Amino acid sequence: MAKIVFETKKGPVLTVLLPGGGSLADVCDEKNAPIPFSCRSASCGTCCIQVLEGEGQLLPPADEELDVLDALDRKAPTFRLSCQAIVKDGEGLLRIRSVDEV
Ligand code: FES
Repeated sequence: MAKIVFETKKGPVLTVLLPGGGSLADVCDEKNAPIPFSCRSASCGTCCIQVLEGEGQLLPPADEELDVLDALDRKAPTFRLSCQAIVKDGEGLLRIRSVDEV
C-alpha cells in the first residue's frame, strides 16, 4: 500500500493510504488534496508538483507529460504532472507538493 503525503511550505497537510495504486488525480479529487488542476490533459501545467521523496512510486512519465514539463523548465522525476501521474501498486512513501508551494 502506497502512502502519499501532501505537503505545503508549512509541512505535511494530508496523508493518504492508497491500496493497489492508481491515478494521483483521482486521489487528489477524493481527498481534496492541496493540488490545483485545470486542463487535466497534460497541456496547461497547473497541476505540476515537486516530488520530495519517492519518485519511484510513480510510473514513468509519457512523452506528452515530458513535453509539458520541458515547457515549464521542470525535469522529471523531480517534477511531475498530477493529472498524468499514476501511483504504482506496492509499498512505499511518496511526498509531494504543488510547485505553487516550492
Ligand atoms: S491540469 Fe493541466 S497539465 Fe495537469
